[in-house]
Amino acid sequence: MNKKNTNNNFKTDFPFFKNNPDLVYLDTAASSLKPQVVIDAIKEYYEQYCINPHSQDYQLAIKGNDIFEDTRKIISKFINSNENEIVFCPSATFAFNQIAYGLEKYLQENDEILLTNLEHSSLLLPFYRLIKTKKIKIKFFETNNQGVITIENLKKVLTPKTRIVAFANINNSLAIENNTEKLTNFIKDYGQKYLKNNDWVFKNILVIIDGTQSIAHTKTDVKKWNIDFFAFSGHKVFGPTGIGVFWGKNEWLNILEPLILGGGMNDCIETNGRFSLLASPTRFEGGTQNIAGVFGLGAAIKYLLSIGMENIKNHQISLKKYALQQLTKHLSNNIEIYSDNINSSNIIFNIKNVFAQDVANFLGTQNICVRSGTYCAKLLSNTLNTSATIRVSLYIYNCKKDIDLLVTALKKGINEGGDFLNEFF
Ligand code: ALA
Repeated sequence: MNKKNTNNNFKTDFPFFKNNPDLVYLDTAASSLKPQVVIDAIKEYYEQYCINPHSQDYQLAIKGNDIFEDTRKIISKFINSNENEIVFCPSATFAFNQIAYGLEKYLQENDEILLTNLEHSSLLLPFYRLIKTKKIKIKFFETNNQGVITIENLKKVLTPKTRIVAFANINNSLAIENNTEKLTNFIKDYGQKYLKNNDWVFKNILVIIDGTQSIAHTKTDVKKWNIDFFAFSGHKVFGPTGIGVFWGKNEWLNILEPLILGGGMNDCIETNGRFSLLASPTRFEGGTQNIAGVFGLGAAIKYLLSIGMENIKNHQISLKKYALQQLTKHLSNNIEIYSDNINSSNIIFNIKNVFAQDVANFLGTQNICVRSGTYCAKLLSNTLNTSATIRVSLYIYNCKKDIDLLVTALKKGINEGGDFLNEFF
């Protein structure tokens, strides 16, 4: 691990902590904080470049475009893909809308799409829309009690009508990593044997992976995983908001209809209404892109690589262990923890007999930032058997002191309020 940071001086890389010295930030699953290098890269774009890569007639525009395209290379290497398969887009939400839109014309009545109860609305809803337009069927498969997808779960729901299986490599609540490679291989083997539809241009079941939470926590390898589509949002991985990445196998990208039409992505336009599109990734990047966002995302990935995924994982595991120890030691009679696996960076819990949002709001008054509810995964309660929980999410800039302050605040809430409401009433 980076020497300077072994005692968790990572905080010094993040201006957020200078500006909010009293805040304990435990909400990285919602958005990660931004290191100075990312902010500098965004500033650099606006201060030194400010060009549109669509202009290639002067040196500065060419240089700016090189940085834009270098970022594509960095990300491509980071997730082990081909460069022309990396599409910049505003967010994972946008990406899943693009994927569902692009697949719509190939789907037929009664085709089945498989999802889990743990998925984010951004993955569920673009496919829900197809229930109306294409009369496809959405089916859900269960996870085990840790939120992990098993082959047994898949066996129960796969049928010769299955066309798409979509799930998060790491979901945003229980946050345990799925064995995406193993699951995909099982799905593909099943598809090879049983898929019945000669019209299905993709010839096998498509696997779509939501990498939004996993991108900052574990190694992504789209080739090894053998998947078809993948997406993440930059802001979950030290990057700016409003920039995301959509990846698809090249052969699929070039038969997918773009959601956005406009400048930069077309090849020719005729007066008779005909037009043709450029190849991927350009065909999906209509209009002026979030160039500053791309500059920032490049810096974010470089920053993450300088720490190393293994170090991030180890730090997270040791902090999670400490957090579980402290929470159970000090609050064992009052707390119910739903995610006690040390490999998960999140702690999902409730204080017994207190509504989750009351606890989260109280923690807010104690300068502790957590999120409560269902975290945009509205079907989560089907798995957890509770309508709402509190989520603490840990990352590289968190330290044991943050956990101590969380425990102290929870104890204060329990001792002083009994129901955490004294603060408000
Ligand atoms: N979906 C984001 C979260 O998990 C915002 O909080």
